[in-house]
Parts: sequence; structure tokens; C-alpha cells
Amino acid sequence: MGPAEEHFEKRVRPVLVRNCVPCHGAAAQSAGLRLDSRAGALKGGGRGTAIVPGNARDSWLIRAVKHDGLRMPVGGKLKEDEIAALEEWVRTGAVWPEGRGPADAPVVHWAFQPVRADGGQTIDAMLGAAMAKGGLRNTSSACQ
Ligand code: HEC
Repeated sequence: MGPAEEHFEKRVRPVLVRNCVPCHGAAAQSAGLRLDSRAGALKGGGRGTAIVPGNARDSWLIRAVKHDGLRMPVGGKLKEDEIAALEEWVRTGAVWPEGRGPADAPVVHWAFQPVRADGGQTIDAMLGAAMAKGGLRNTSSACQ
């Protein structure tokens, strides 16, 4: 692995996966943007490309994390050293080794979560409460 690949794997990919991919990846594509591949970042979202390799200032990804015209991630700001790492990555050509696919996506994908209704209640508990309200009870056996 060359220094550019190493920079990406150690200091860029983990920041993207942790802070951006939950909303810009396989599970969700806010603003039509995916940040789980170089192709996705180059394609960009409604505003156009998210990265201009070699030009951090014109890259929406960098502008967003610097709160310049857009504020990302939603509800927070990355640490200074994380922003600097992303900036350096775009400035030096946005090297993004291919080959590691969706395994990069965080395991918070909805399909891997237990089924829950709002408030952390299970579906059974919700059904039970609704049935009790309507005066209904479960029968003790399905064969009654
Ligand atoms: C909680 C969900 C969420 C997270 C996390 C998040 N974003 Fe976003 N992102 C959005 C939404 C919603 C929009 C649309 C906002 C708008 O257009 O004003 C957006 C828009 C963008 C856009 C503009 C896309 C376009 O072309 O319009 C960029 C660039 C972007 N996000 C980068 C990032 C980066 C980089 C991170 C991580 C540091 C990140 N986002 C994290 C939800 C998120």
C-alpha cells in the first residue's frame, strides 16, 4: 500500500464510514448522494459532484464538513484533524482503492436490526396493549 492508499484507509475511510455512510450509503442516500465509493462521491447529489480531485475548495464534501454553505454531518461537526485529513485526501487526488465493497457499510443497516416499533417496544407488546384496550385477549391456544 502506497502512502496515498494508507492515508485513505487509516484517516479517511473510517471517518466517512462512521459519520457519513449511514445517510449516504447503501441504507440511505440523502440528497441522492452516496459516499461509500469513489464513483458515488464523484457522481455527487443534487448539487453535482461531491469531490473535485485536486481541488478541495470546490468540493462539496469538504465545504460541507467545514460548514461552508452546507453543514455535515447533520447535527455536528467533525474534529479538526478529521477535516484536515479529508481536505488533504481531496487535495492530493482523492485516491480511493477499490475492491472492498459494501462490507465497508456499517452494521447499523436496518435489515440487520431487530424488529421494533417506536419507543423501543416490540411489536408483540404493542399488539398486546392495543388488544387490551379493545377488550380482546389472546386465546391460550390456537385450537380452541
Ligand atoms: C443524518 C444524516 C446525514 C449524515 C450523517 C450526513 N449527511 Fe450529508 N446530507 C444529509 C441530508 C439530509 C442532505 C441534504 C441537505 C440539503 O440539501 O440541504 C445532505 C447533503 C449532503 C451533501 C450535498 C449533496 C448534494 O449534492 O446536494 C453533501 C456533500 C454531504 N451531505 C456530505 C456529507 C458528509 C461528508 C457527511 C459526513 C461527514 C454527511 N454528509 C453526513 C444527511 C446526512
